Amino acid sequence: MYTMGIDIGSASSKVVILKDGADIVAAEVIQFGTGSTGPQRALEEALKKSKLSLTDMTKIVATGYGRFAFERADKQVSEISCHARGIFHLVPTARTIIDIGGQDAKAIRLDERGNVIQFFMNDKCAAGTGRFLDVMARVLEIKIDEMAEYDSRATEVVSVSSTCTVFAESEVISHLSQGVSKEKIIAGVHASVASKACGLAYRTGLENDVAMGGGVAQNAGVVRAISRELKRPIHVAPNPQITGALGAALFAYDEALKS
Ligand SMILES: Nc1ncnc2c1ncn2[C@@H]1O[C@H](COP(=O)(O)OP(=O)(O)OP(=O)(O)O)[C@@H](O)[C@H]1O
Ligand SMILES: [Mg+2]
Repeated sequence: MYTMGIDIGSASSKVVILKDGADIVAAEVIQFGTGSTGPQRALEEALKKSKLSLTDMTKIVATGYGRFAFERADKQVSEISCHARGIFHLVPTARTIIDIGGQDAKAIRLDERGNVIQFFMNDKCAAGTGRFLDVMARVLEIKIDEMAEYDSRATEVVSVSSTCTVFAESEVISHLSQGVSKEKIIAGVHASVASKACGLAYRTGLENDVAMGGGVAQNAGVVRAISRELKRPIHVAPNPQITGALGAALFAYDEALKS
């Protein structure tokens, strides 16, 4: 039996096709989110990869910011529930989850069975999110997937202290104009994102193991900065950007068993 999870975020669209609630047969990420052709393209690519058609899907669950705009879903489930379910499936020892996406950051605490017992979310402001990193990458004229490499070469972490993205952008421009290296500035940008995520994690009552999902988990510089601040290792889910879609596909499997 096949089920599908689709996670329509602000920055990207993700689709996972699952066989019998266990094996991922296709996973697709398109870097365009809600309001674009991203969801349809992710769905078509995942079906093509798996050589399946939409009618083969017993149930489909949608999650993410754009989940109510996707008409083919049998059910919508919140992002908190889907990220928790997806990461717990991949990292069963996870008790604290940090998900940093394009427009929000979340910390979720789980019990030993994977139930959500507490969560906090920053969805009011771009600071501490992928959007903040995207803005800084543009100012620094580097690609988002180069940020970690620059960070790894930093000999010092320069403070980027503004809590507002617009002010932080000015701060970065000011550092650049004073000749501070991109490496040091990027380390400061990552430390700023990490401190906001850690604040959310502490509020949930931080417990080991800590695992990360979401697109920003692909940035090893942010992961290192979080690990440093929390003074513990961070488990990064394999292919972390798809964890919400995986959770949705698992919820779709539950629905399929009910019907
Ligand atoms: N290859 C990469 N390396 C590093 N960072 C990346 C990479 N790809 C994406 N990102 C970061 O991930 C962010 C998007 O994350 P994600 O796809 O989880 O967002 P989303 O689910 O669409 O957003 P939200 O959940 O907030 O609505 C981007 O803003 C970018 O900063
Ligand atoms: Mg998301």
